[in-house]
Amino acid sequence: MSDWPAPTPTSALARRRDALRARLRAPALIASGFARPRNFLGNPYEFRASSHFLYLVGRQIEGAALLLESDAATLFVEPPAPDDVLWTGSPAALDQLERELELRVRPIEELARELWRAGETATLPPPDLETSEWLRSLLERPVEPDPDDSLSELDAALSDAMIEQRLVHDEAAIAQLRQAAALTIAAHRAGMSRTRPGLREAVVMAEMERSIRSAGGRLAYGPIVTVRGEVLHNDRHDGMLNDGDLLLCDVGAETPEGWAGDVTRTWPVSGRFSASQRDAYQAVLAAHDAAVAAVRPGTRFRDVHRIAARTLLEGLVGLGVFRGDVDELYERGAAGVFFPHGVGHLLGLDVHDLEDLGDRAGYPPGRSRATSLGEKYLRLDRDLAPGMAVTIEPGFYRISALLDDPSESERLGGALDRSALARFSDVRGIRIEDDVLVTETGNEVITGELEKEPSAVEARIAWTD
Ligand code: GLY
Ligand code: MN
Ligand code: MN
Repeated sequence: MSDWPAPTPTSALARRRDALRARLRAPALIASGFARPRNFLGNPYEFRASSHFLYLVGRQIEGAALLLESDAATLFVEPPAPDDVLWTGSPAALDQLERELELRVRPIEELARELWRAGETATLPPPDLETSEWLRSLLERPVEPDPDDSLSELDAALSDAMIEQRLVHDEAAIAQLRQAAALTIAAHRAGMSRTRPGLREAVVMAEMERSIRSAGGRLAYGPIVTVRGEVLHNDRHDGMLNDGDLLLCDVGAETPEGWAGDVTRTWPVSGRFSASQRDAYQAVLAAHDAAVAAVRPGTRFRDVHRIAARTLLEGLVGLGVFRGDVDELYERGAAGVFFPHGVGHLLGLDVHDLEDLGDRAGYPPGRSRATSLGEKYLRLDRDLAPGMAVTIEPGFYRISALLDDPSESERLGGALDRSALARFSDVRGIRIEDDVLVTETGNEVITGELEKEPSAVEARIAWTD
C-alpha cells in the first residue's frame, strides 16, 4: 500500500450512479447529512457523510445532496462562504468540484426548484434528525427515519435498489476494503507490540488509533480494547492490563471515503497464553476456521453461523465443559450461552453494512430473525454471492448474567460441567474476527495476514523479547 489511502476513481463513481439510475422507478435524493453538535453548534463531532452518499460521490461534503434522475445526476452543495476561509479553510468552488468529480454541481439553493420540476422524489432513511427535518421540508412530506417502520412505497423501492447494488462490491469498493484491511492489520500489530502489564487499556487503544490516523485513516467504529472481553461492546478503556489477563481488541479502520475494516484479536497481556487460555482460544479458532471454510457462493449465511457454533460446541465437549451429543446440545441452544452473538455481518461502507436500512438488507424477503438466544443476534441470513464481504467473528465469553440465569441452567439440564468450566477462570472473553470477501470459487480473507495462531500472536508481543 502507498503511504496514504488512494481515492476511488471518478469513473467508478460514475458507473455506480449510472447503475443506480437504471434501477430507479422515480427520481432519488441522497443527502450527505450534517455534523452532529456536542451540546452547542460551534463544537461538532467529526463529520462523516452518509454511506449512500459516499458510495455515489466519494467525498465527505457536509449538507450536500445528490439528485438522480433517469437521464441526469446533479450534486447540490453549499457554495463557499467568505467566513469559511477564516474558520475552516476555503472549500472547493463549485466549478472546481465539477471538474474533479466529472459531475454536474449546482448551488444548494437551487435544489428546491429542481425537486419541484422533477416531481415525486424518493429518499432514504436519513442518518440524523436534522437531515430528516431538512428532507421533510424539501420534499414536503414526512420522511421516515426508522427503516423498520413503514417506509413509503417510493422510499422502500429506493432502499431495495440501493441494497441490491451495494450488497455486491465492485472492483473499486474491493480496493477500498483492502486499504481499510491494511490499515486495520497495522493497527493490531501496533497494539500487540505496545501491550505490557501495568499499562491502561487506553494506552493500547491510543497506539492503535495512532497507527490508523497517521496512515490517513480513521476509526470505523468505537474501538473495543478491554480485558473484560465478556462485555461484548465494552466502550471503556480505563482498565489496567495485568499479567494473566487476555486483552480483547476489536478495532477497525476506515478509509477517508468511509470503507471499513472490522477485526478482533485477543492476546495475552503477559505475552504467553496460559494452558487454559490456549485451549479456549483454540476452540474459538477452530470455529473461526470452519466458518471461513464455509464461505462461498450459494451458502446460506445462517449455515455459516451454525457451523461456527457447532464447531465451538465440539471444542467445548472436548474440553469437558459440556457433556453430550453436539447436535442435541446445539438444538438446546447451548452454544448461545458462550457465543450469544451472530457469526458475522455485511461489511462495506459501514462496519455493519447497510444496517441503516434495517433488516431488509441482512434478511431477504421470506427470511426473518430467529428468536432463540444463539441466533437472534444474527444480522445476516442471505445466500452468499461473489463480491459480498462479511465478517467471521465467533467468540467464547463467560457471561455471568447467562451462566447464572436459572432459566439457562434449566435449559442446559446438567449438560454444563461447572467444575470443568472453573478451569477457565482466567478467560473472560475471546473473539477472533476477520474480513472475508466472497469470490467466484470460495473466499479470500482480506485480513488473513494478521497473526491469529497462538504462537504467532505471542511472537508479536514485543515486551517479552
Ligand atoms: N466491531 C463490531 C462488530 O464486530 O460487529
Ligand atoms: Mn464485526
Ligand atoms: Mn468487530
